[in-house]
Amino acid sequence: MWEKAISVSRLVKRFGDFTALNGLDLEIRKGEVYGLLGPNGAGKTTAIKILTGLLKRSSGEAEVLGIRAPSKDIAARIGYMPQETALYVGLTVHQNLEFFGRLFGLDRARILSREAELLRVIDLERWRDELVANLSGGMKHRVSLACALIHEPEVLFLDEPTVGVDPELRVSFWKYFSNLKSRGITILITTHYMDEAGHCDRVGFMRSGRLIAEGEPAAVLKESGAKSLEDAFLFYARRDG
Ligand SMILES: Nc1ncnc2c1ncn2[C@@H]1O[C@H](COP(=O)(O)OP(=O)(O)OP(=O)(O)O)[C@@H](O)[C@H]1O
Ligand SMILES: [Mg+2]
Repeated sequence: MWEKAISVSRLVKRFGDFTALNGLDLEIRKGEVYGLLGPNGAGKTTAIKILTGLLKRSSGEAEVLGIRAPSKDIAARIGYMPQETALYVGLTVHQNLEFFGRLFGLDRARILSREAELLRVIDLERWRDELVANLSGGMKHRVSLACALIHEPEVLFLDEPTVGVDPELRVSFWKYFSNLKSRGITILITTHYMDEAGHCDRVGFMRSGRLIAEGEPAAVLKESGAKSLEDAFLFYARRDG
């Protein structure tokens, strides 16, 4: 039996009369790269916000590393890159990394060594002392990824991490994700890029607040009868029921 990193069962989230999550079930293994797919409004971000402790569930269960969400014990062990970047634009790249490092209790030496590695990954070494306000949209996204990784989290939640990131850097992000995976880190990632979905160990397709298909990308493709993951996406997005 594999170890679970994330476990969600019958998860429901209502906003007033609107049901955003409607009985979501999800099991993600330790060390897995899991791609959560689905059209705008399917509930992907809502699920991530419940797992990371930013939203309260209406009912059902949500656990990370065997701990029931929300919990401070989860927060210390996960990294979260939100869909809308949450950086301090009046601070420099370095100061943002330092802020998030300190938030997680890292000492100065550790912050500096982590910063050196991460600035290399996001290819922004030259921009270390620039104000975040002066960076382009894609660059801000890259800094946000580095901030989510500063404390070496065991589980990473990446909500559309490569939006606005140029193709060359997207390739290097994915190389880094597989490097993280080889260190045993679990990654839950959302994306609308189907070439990226193909890099995941498994994908789950959400629609209207629940999972309607799941498996290895090749298996999902086969099940849908589509020729490409793009076509499979359209098949699941439009399918009745
Ligand atoms: N705070 C909120 N109050 C009311 N409705 C909300 C709130 N947050 C999300 N919703 C609704 O819940 C549904 C799911 O939203 P969510 O952001 O989880 O979708 P998503 O799958 O992440 O979509 P996208 O691909 O566009 O990021 C949407 O219909 C959204 O309008
Ligand atoms: Mg979203």
